[in-house]
Amino acid sequence: MTDAEQPPPTPLNATVVERVDHNPFQMVLRVRMDGESGNLGPFEPGQFTNLGLPPRDPAHASGSSGLVKRPYSIASAPAEPSVEFFLRLVDNGALTPLLWKLAVGDRLWMEQRTVGKFTLADVPDGKDLVMVSTGTGLAPFVSMLRHYRGTGRWNRMVMVHGVRIESDLGYRGELESLAQQDSQLVYLPVCSREPEPGPWQGMRGHVMAALEPEFYAKAVGAPLDPEQCQVFLCGNPQMIESVETQLAELGFRPHTRKNPGQIHKERYW
Ligand SMILES: Cc1cc2nc3c(=O)[nH]c(=O)nc-3n(C[C@H](O)[C@H](O)[C@H](O)COP(=O)(O)OP(=O)(O)OC[C@H]3O[C@@H](n4cnc5c(N)ncnc54)[C@H](O)[C@@H]3O)c2cc1C
Ligand SMILES: NC(=O)c1ccc[n+]([C@@H]2O[C@H](COP(=O)([O-])OP(=O)(O)OC[C@H]3O[C@@H](n4cnc5c(N)ncnc54)[C@H](OP(=O)(O)O)[C@@H]3O)[C@@H](O)[C@H]2O)c1
Repeated sequence: MTDAEQPPPTPLNATVVERVDHNPFQMVLRVRMDGESGNLGPFEPGQFTNLGLPPRDPAHASGSSGLVKRPYSIASAPAEPSVEFFLRLVDNGALTPLLWKLAVGDRLWMEQRTVGKFTLADVPDGKDLVMVSTGTGLAPFVSMLRHYRGTGRWNRMVMVHGVRIESDLGYRGELESLAQQDSQLVYLPVCSREPEPGPWQGMRGHVMAALEPEFYAKAVGAPLDPEQCQVFLCGNPQMIESVETQLAELGFRPHTRKNPGQIHKERYW
């Protein structure tokens, strides 16, 4: 096919309606789909969709779309009037440096279809949900919390969020304020690279520190027990491996529909 015969690129179909930068490498972006609702169709909290932009290097384009596309977990609840994403700038990445150039009013592509099985679909009501994330891996849990909070969907939700530095603790205000009002929500932020001594007074190290049985039982007021807990792991694939190994010693097993267990996983790379 010659250049003249290339199919036209997928049209941009969405607009940035809000951008909040937490630091130079992390932001929350709100996007409205063209059309009356501004939203995606109905989706299950925990699912993801794709964002795309014309690439700097045509070799980065996905298929014949003419756009570089990547999957992103949805942080908003299905009923919200636009779609929220929690994003990390990846140095030399194909898409994120382009997303970082966007301002309110700018256009991008958002896939209408949502996908993914990292949801509560296989989890019965009344469990203790232990949501463990690194970096922007918090996003699917924000969507679940916003959608299901107050419905009796869980007995407890324990949000363990591991980041490098304090300003990476996206959604901290929302989570701290909800945890103050709601005894079913426990928020355990962990920082790995805050200087010591320094202003950070919270937990240091990796998320595994918050899952040490004695620490967990004291912080949460209940044991980390595979009979009662379902664990969701999202973000850095090495964290997912480390936590899976740690929890195997307590009797936790990966979940599949065929072999039900207690560990659900979403690897970001
Ligand atoms: C199901 C799913 C949901 C995702 N949801 C989110 C989300 O909500 N927020 C978000 O910021 N990202 C999310 N990602 C990652 C996202 O799809 C992109 O991979 C990321 O934004 C980098 O894209 P890029 O084109 O800039 O980098 P690329 O050119 O694709 O380079 C990616 C490479 O950078 C490295 N890398 C370092 N840090 C990260 C990181 N945090 N994420 C991905 N790769 C990294 C990896 O080695 C990876 O192979 C998700 C990924 C998956 C599979
Ligand atoms: N240019 C910059 O200065 C800059 C700054 C920040 C981020 N970035 C980009 O952003 C990308 C992603 O950064 P991110 O901070 O969101 O994600 P990340 O590198 O996955 O770090 C998030 C948290 O996960 C921890 N972690 C790493 N390996 C782990 C393991 N095996 N088990 C448990 N926890 C583990 C990290 O601890 P550790 O501190 O021990 O790694 C950190 O606390 C980087 O790869 C980089 O491209 C760039």
